Amino acid sequence: MFRPLCGLVLLAALLAVGADLRAQPAPVLNIAHRGARSIAPENTLPAFRLGITRGKADMIELDVHLSKDGIPVVIHDDTLERTTDAADRFPHRKPWRVFDFTAAELMSLDAGTWFVQADPFNQIRAGEVPPEDLALFSSGRVRIPTLKAALALVKELDTRVNIELKNFPAFYPGLADKVVAEVRASGIADRVIFSCFDHEILVQLRRIAPEIPRAALVEDPVYPLKEYVADLLGAVAFNPSRDVLGFDSQDFHHGGRLRQDIIDQAHQAGLRVNVWTVNDPGQMEALIKAGVDGLFTDFPQRLSALLLEGAKGR
Ligand code: G3P
Ligand code: MG
Repeated sequence: MFRPLCGLVLLAALLAVGADLRAQPAPVLNIAHRGARSIAPENTLPAFRLGITRGKADMIELDVHLSKDGIPVVIHDDTLERTTDAADRFPHRKPWRVFDFTAAELMSLDAGTWFVQADPFNQIRAGEVPPEDLALFSSGRVRIPTLKAALALVKELDTRVNIELKNFPAFYPGLADKVVAEVRASGIADRVIFSCFDHEILVQLRRIAPEIPRAALVEDPVYPLKEYVADLLGAVAFNPSRDVLGFDSQDFHHGGRLRQDIIDQAHQAGLRVNVWTVNDPGQMEALIKAGVDGLFTDFPQRLSALLLEGAKGR
């Protein structure tokens, strides 16, 4: 027989759980920027793997250029000097632009040793990079990956990827077509989001591959979010720099006022907000509290630890 008291207790418990769930902010997406870039050479397969295994990221971000022979390759800069040994290997080909090298040439370069020499985030000095990783990075075997190889790893790791198309339309007239073809051939188009600073490329992508979601990368707070980003570009996400949201370019607070209004306007326009590049725990916390949907970070291991702490504290 139904007892009113039991029913009331059950109802109260359900309401409490419901209220509790409503009080939880939606989990923020941990996006490993160029892979786990603080502890591995950026935009390489080991960096992507570590982003997921050690960083516990939900998604990796990578940058794509085209080689001279039209193959999508994964690298951030438009020149090879900073992250490979191209200057030593090809001394007469200054300024070592990516699009002046064939894919075979690019894949013959060492894309790992520079990281061990430069220790760009001081994580080697801090003892955060194990000896076996250091041995691999300086072995000469870490290469610039093709997009195809990176997508195969995304599939193997059962994760998701933000593919940023680097914006040189004058240099790369076929960039969008070639990247879309590669993504479709990979069979994991449903785990891909495209992003680009060049919004003409986003419009092209919308036309060629309307089924693959797009995010608008922005460095200025000048865009009408609904009419331009959501309606015209058809983007699902607005990816501002943290400067746009009120933090300056250092990894510390410098009196920046968080632009909650921009985050709220984006949400009202139906856009997700993914902020780059956030490495400082204080900024991570402030942005999570402000309700952003994702954070691109060079330290996915730091963000996942912070999210775990937050979950324990609730
Ligand atoms: O997608 C976020 C971020 O990658 C954009 O800037 O220069 O690191 O490619 P960048
Ligand atoms: Mg990028």
